[in-house]
Parts: sequence; C-alpha cells; structure tokens
Amino acid sequence: MELSQKLTEAFNAQVNAEMWSANLYLSMAVYFQKQGLNGFAHWMRKQASEELEHAEDMINFTIDRGGDIQIGQVNVVPTAWGNAIEVFENVYKHECHVSQMIDNLVNIAEADKDHASRDFLFKYVREQVEEESTAKSILEQLKAYGECHIAIMDNKLSKR
Ligand SMILES: [Fe+2]
Ligand SMILES: [Fe+2]
Repeated sequence: MELSQKLTEAFNAQVNAEMWSANLYLSMAVYFQKQGLNGFAHWMRKQASEELEHAEDMINFTIDRGGDIQIGQVNVVPTAWGNAIEVFENVYKHECHVSQMIDNLVNIAEADKDHASRDFLFKYVREQVEEESTAKSILEQLKAYGECHIAIMDNKLSKR
C-alpha cells in the first residue's frame, strides 16, 4: 500500500519542519558559542543533528512507501534571544508545536487506515514527550538557579 497524497504532503511538510528545527538549534548553538557558553552550544548542536536524523528517517520512510519527496526551501530562523531562559522558552514552545504536527500526521495515517505509517510515527509521538520534558526541565532549572549559575548549567549541558 502506497502513502496517500495527503500523507505524502504531510511527510514533506514534516521533513521541512525537521530541517527548520535543525537550523533553529544550530542558530541557538551559535548564539551560545559567541558568549563562550560551549556546554549550551554543544547541547544545541546535538539537538540540531538529531533533528536532521529525523528528517533523513522520514525521507527514507516516505520513499520506501512510494511517496515523492521534494527538498524545498527552509525558512529563516531567529538569530538572537534575550538570555538563556528565553532560548529554552522558545525550545519548549517549538517542541510543543512539533508534537502537534506529529499528532496531526498520526490523525491522517489513522484516517487512511495506514498502519505502517501510524507505527512509524509512534516512535516520534513518544520522542516528543521526551523532547518537551527535557526542554521544560532545563527551563525550570534556569529559572530556579538564575543567570548567576549559568556556568554550572553550561558544565552540565556539556555532558550530553
Ligand atoms: Fe524532530
Ligand atoms: Fe525536536
């Protein structure tokens, strides 16, 4: 069974969103690196490469299922934030948005009775729970300990 047109389009949009996410985190890595916060930068680079892996995985799945993939233009990402708290507020918000996109993909797969796609997407449904909770916990720690403990957080994040 081949992917429906609707699901193919949704996978294409998701691939683009994963690439946008990768660029967003790379931009955040640069932001931190410029301040000498290399632990934060390291964490963001890892995050960026994971997003690219998601894109690759979805490209492969779509092609395996007979769907067409077109690599389109990726929109510009923000390049500046007020502070680390603001960065992680944005990470959390962005990951919540991605969760909604994945849920929407599952809804289409279910409407199509496309069990292979639903099964493929479930790992991302679970992954998003982790993505949201990790971002939230770093955000909470930053809020609790404040900017004065930024070096401690930087050291912690360097171990990812
Ligand atoms: Fe992702
Ligand atoms: Fe993500």
